[in-house]
Amino acid sequence: MRHFLSLKDFTKTELLEMITLAQKIKKETKAKEFVPYMEKQTLGMIFEKSSTRTRVSFEVGIYQLGGVGLFLSSNDIQLGRGEPMKDTARVISRMVDMVMIRTFEHTKIEEFAEYSKVPVINGLTDSYHPVQLMTDYLTMLESGIENPIVAYVGDGKNNMTHSWLLLASKMGFELRVSTPKGYECDPKVVEIALELAKESGAILTFSHDPKEVVEGANVVTTDTWVSMGQEDEKEERIEAFNGYIVDEKLMNLAQKDAIFLHCLPAYRGLEVSEEIFEKHSESIFLEAENRLHAQKGIMVWLNQHKNK
Ligand code: CP
Ligand code: NVA
Repeated sequence: MRHFLSLKDFTKTELLEMITLAQKIKKETKAKEFVPYMEKQTLGMIFEKSSTRTRVSFEVGIYQLGGVGLFLSSNDIQLGRGEPMKDTARVISRMVDMVMIRTFEHTKIEEFAEYSKVPVINGLTDSYHPVQLMTDYLTMLESGIENPIVAYVGDGKNNMTHSWLLLASKMGFELRVSTPKGYECDPKVVEIALELAKESGAILTFSHDPKEVVEGANVVTTDTWVSMGQEDEKEERIEAFNGYIVDEKLMNLAQKDAIFLHCLPAYRGLEVSEEIFEKHSESIFLEAENRLHAQKGIMVWLNQHKNK
């Protein structure tokens, strides 16, 4: 049995198998052909943080695969009143076929997985957001980006950047990260990514200058400067990230047909200008829709590997 907690736990071949499944199931879904890959299966969805995309895409996704999703907010289940993660895991995993969790510390999802009888999917932790990055990879492919040169501008020490580092280093493409001083990526994640890059041929570079990373890129991306759980740091972060907005001036340095991606929710006027957001709304909302398709690929793959 495999859990989907971080991209580092899978080979490139395995990740591509999930993407291929996602593409196949997306085609079937678009043709209104709903194949019951996970008939009568139940997905428990535990949320300790807010969500729009993750909740809707997993719930609709499992339903379209022939199963059913259970939305379990920590405000409503005993986990929120202090029942230990390991007890929650031992109870819920006896009743459902798969679990998705959105939580804070990555160690919490690792603990859940350790005690779970069924596959666990990371729906975002403070450290990683792997289902989003599988979605972003699918979106780049569909946008005709065969050799990505990705420029990430913004917060380096967050779940999106860390998962970008792992995606690039697994798949072997170029990723350039630009962050303000003091907001660089976690050195431990960088070390893992650089090690993986030796094998895949990925090029990973880091800079404090957003212009330097965007110059010649064919994908530009960013994320909120204030992630969930960092609300108390909002003012100091907005000040620290001054100059890191993806606006027309910055985007003009990228390749002419470069796409802009954002996992959403976006904060216009902070990490991205209104103008750039609206100009690239097609790729941004294709990316949002692809959460549904990419995650079906991941769920079906995990289900197929349950007894291996
Ligand atoms: N991108 C993303 O995970 O969105 P939600 O927080 O709305 O789930
Ligand atoms: N880095 C953001 C991603 C939201 C999908 C957060 O953790 O809030």
